[in-house]
Amino acid sequence: MSTLQDSPTAAGSGANASENFKASAAAHDVADTPPERVAAIVTAVLKGVHDAIAEYDVSYPEFQAAKAWLMEVGDGGEWPLFMDVFVEHAVEEQVAKSQQGTKGSILGPYYLPDQVRLPAKAELPRRDDEKGTPLVLTGQVRDLDGTPLAGAEVDLWHADSDGYYAGFAPHVPDGNLRGVFVTDDEGRFEISTIQPAPYQIPTDGPTGKMIEVAGWHPWRPAHLHVQVRAEGHRTITTQLYFAGGEWLDSDVAEATKPELVLDPQADDNGVNRESYDFVLERG
Ligand code: DHB
Ligand code: FE
Repeated sequence: MSTLQDSPTAAGSGANASENFKASAAAHDVADTPPERVAAIVTAVLKGVHDAIAEYDVSYPEFQAAKAWLMEVGDGGEWPLFMDVFVEHAVEEQVAKSQQGTKGSILGPYYLPDQVRLPAKAELPRRDDEKGTPLVLTGQVRDLDGTPLAGAEVDLWHADSDGYYAGFAPHVPDGNLRGVFVTDDEGRFEISTIQPAPYQIPTDGPTGKMIEVAGWHPWRPAHLHVQVRAEGHRTITTQLYFAGGEWLDSDVAEATKPELVLDPQADDNGVNRESYDFVLERG
């Protein structure tokens, strides 16, 4: 069990998420958006705010409380957490309209690049005493026309059986439950890991406070994050969930899709097994 001292706090994981995002390529991509489009989008966003103020007859104390809260989100480094939980799914759904192949889902704030490269059949790095039910995920990466994609990268990262991510929770060693599997000549992979637990948005920061004050819950269902990359193909960023899992029907991040739900079955040794194929479009 982790002690209170090394448990991740909102300030800890939030600040890490901010630093990680600032260092990422995504933060440096200058969106190629012309001024008219910037003006139209910003006007529409502000109109949403103005309309809510009118509809709910918002008072000065409520306006000032909102300002103070926005400042806390920034000070606590929680903008990546907030944006990825409450906004990213809408962007992903929009982009998905013009995509074929395996369904995507949100990237979330906890992706880290450059993790250990592993062969097609391997165990995701884990602590000697890693808790959790063993899980083996097999599958194949293919083109839209069914051609197997050899040498494709299946980049996997997930929380441990307490819901914590390496790199963002101080008591979890770097690189734990993170790795990049390279598919074999038939595009296949066989990943050994453990079942992750549901993830809870840190409750001690401003995002958690907003959720509590609104009477919502802070949970995401247990999930595996996957990014599948192959030369000449569109990268898929997605997540895989577990049938019957808690919060599957009420994900705070609204990032589940029925096509992304696994239903692993335990073998005679108590190992949960499932297979899932990834289909990439050219591009
Ligand atoms: C957040 C955390 C996740 O693990 C995830 O998949 C999506 C969002 C978050 O705290 O913002
Ligand atoms: Fe996650």
